[in-house]
Amino acid sequence: MGLPTTIAIDGPAASGKSTLGVLLAQALGYLYFDTGVMYRALTLAALQRGLNVHDEAAIGALAETVHIDVGPPSVEDGRDCDVFLDGQDVTWEIRSDAVNSFVSDVSVYAAVRKAMTDQQRRIAYANKVVVVGRDIGSVVIPDADLKIYLDASAEVRAQRRYQEMINRGEAADYEAVLRSLKNRDQIDSTREIAPLKVVEDAVVINSDDLGIEEVLEKAKELVYRV
Ligand code: CDP
Repeated sequence: MGLPTTIAIDGPAASGKSTLGVLLAQALGYLYFDTGVMYRALTLAALQRGLNVHDEAAIGALAETVHIDVGPPSVEDGRDCDVFLDGQDVTWEIRSDAVNSFVSDVSVYAAVRKAMTDQQRRIAYANKVVVVGRDIGSVVIPDADLKIYLDASAEVRAQRRYQEMINRGEAADYEAVLRSLKNRDQIDSTREIAPLKVVEDAVVINSDDLGIEEVLEKAKELVYRV
């Protein structure tokens, strides 16, 4: 058997999925696809239109009409991918505090999950890909050739996210970051549809005591073993 052509990486907020995903995709020459940015772009669209994120019907309708495009980075400004919302580059806007606060509420709705999952499958099955998210190995690509679940304690994840914000020159409060991550994890793992969970055929990597190079090495071992 050759190398795995569809690789799923799932895990909780700020566990290092995107960093690993980017490096692994680069090493293999595959497309890197971060599905989280689609939920973030939809949340931004809802906020821009002044919609109430608790209005399931309105958010569901928006998910079916809004146009979100994700692709390889076209600008060298530290981005991992381009994200367009109705033709507008929103790559950085989707990382705002407001989006962080509401993205997990928007991501529970059935109509939202269906619209996003359909688009994600189209992209995933047309390419050699590394796809990153919460429900990739469980729902989006259940037949992925390799499934990795990247984990780390809430405190280590909050410290990493805090450091990212400081590095971008943003004001950051560690305790607030920790609270927000825990809140998102709670909603993501207890929702009815496509909750965050470890599927049976996933390999769990805990990165509490591992640097990114070590995580990448472990992932590569899995790729070449499959
Ligand atoms: O980068 P970070 O780990 O903070 O989050 P993300 O991957 O950008 O995902 C943001 C949010 O989108 C998550 O907290 C989930 O609520 C939702 N999401 C999801 O429901 N399913 C996915 N496949 C990806 C993200």
